[in-house]
Amino acid sequence: MPGKRLTKPQPAPSEGRPIVVAGVGHMGGAIARGLIAAGLGARLILIDPGMKQADVRAFRKAGATTGNDVRVLTGANPEAIILAVKPQMMAQVAPAYAAAARSAVVISIAAGTQIESLNLWLDRPKAMVRAMPNLPAAIGKGISAAYATPSTTSAQRKLAERLLKATGDLVWLEGEELLNAVTAVSGSGPAYVFLLVEAMAAAGERVGLSAEVAALLARKTIEGAGALLASSPTSPTDLRRSVTSPGGTTEAALKVLMADGRLEQLMAEAIAAANARGFELAKTR
Ligand SMILES: NC(=O)c1ccc[n+]([C@@H]2O[C@H](COP(=O)([O-])OP(=O)(O)OC[C@H]3O[C@@H](n4cnc5c(N)ncnc54)[C@H](OP(=O)(O)O)[C@@H]3O)[C@@H](O)[C@H]2O)c1
Repeated sequence: MPGKRLTKPQPAPSEGRPIVVAGVGHMGGAIARGLIAAGLGARLILIDPGMKQADVRAFRKAGATTGNDVRVLTGANPEAIILAVKPQMMAQVAPAYAAAARSAVVISIAAGTQIESLNLWLDRPKAMVRAMPNLPAAIGKGISAAYATPSTTSAQRKLAERLLKATGDLVWLEGEELLNAVTAVSGSGPAYVFLLVEAMAAAGERVGLSAEVAALLARKTIEGAGALLASSPTSPTDLRRSVTSPGGTTEAALKVLMADGRLEQLMAEAIAAANARGFELAKTR
């Protein structure tokens, strides 16, 4: 027909080699659910000996294959293997994936588990990505940072990016050692924010609010400020300035928090401690 563009039929999103998630707990489960939402359910092979029956049913309903151990991979030729077991389980679990890892990109999200160790356990796979997601991945609002080994092809990097972005945003790192800094900022970060809610609630009680009201106000304030930050291109500094009238109440509070860089210094110390602990833990894994 004149004028009509002929287009090749596009493959359905579920077509392609399998994607394996080994360890379908909090984070592996969040990734699996994100991948299902991204239309990749039929490509998933989810391996975990302790999956709840309700989860197994839901994953299978979404088209995924589930199994208790690596034997479910017999005959499969996965394109990616996401290792999401606890770091202390990795030495025991990873070797079973060595054969499949030869022609796949391996993505490990285990905190502190170094590529050197993974290489040993997986018999030196060609393509490897180490990533650090964070807790809001559970609601698709996570931020992950990842490092890819030089032998990872750009197509494998793109695939890893697509998979890791199923739970939120992603930044690439130039060096593996930066993952400790990432863990200190965004990996552990949600806990700092939860502490801030607790501290604001406790302080609210000290100025006369009931525990219930103070807790609600603190929680909703952080929720709302986070949502505002997410929906606005404005920098946090400009957002802060825009709500700080000269001589007003916010300024009075910020003067206390910012006097001699108090909060900044405290946060710097906290993040440095987490970073240092990351290097210490890496020596044991
Ligand atoms: N949670 C986070 O916020 C977060 C953030 C960044 C990175 N990470 C990393 O993500 C990884 C998983 O953490 P998580 O919090 O999701 O832990 P988790 O909830 O304990 O999940 C790990 C899962 O692996 C399963 N498992 C144990 N042995 C297995 C095997 N041989 N094969 C397959 N699965 C096996 C566990 O089953 P059982 O419970 O029955 O042993 C569990 O369901 C860790 O390496 C952690 O460092 C987590």
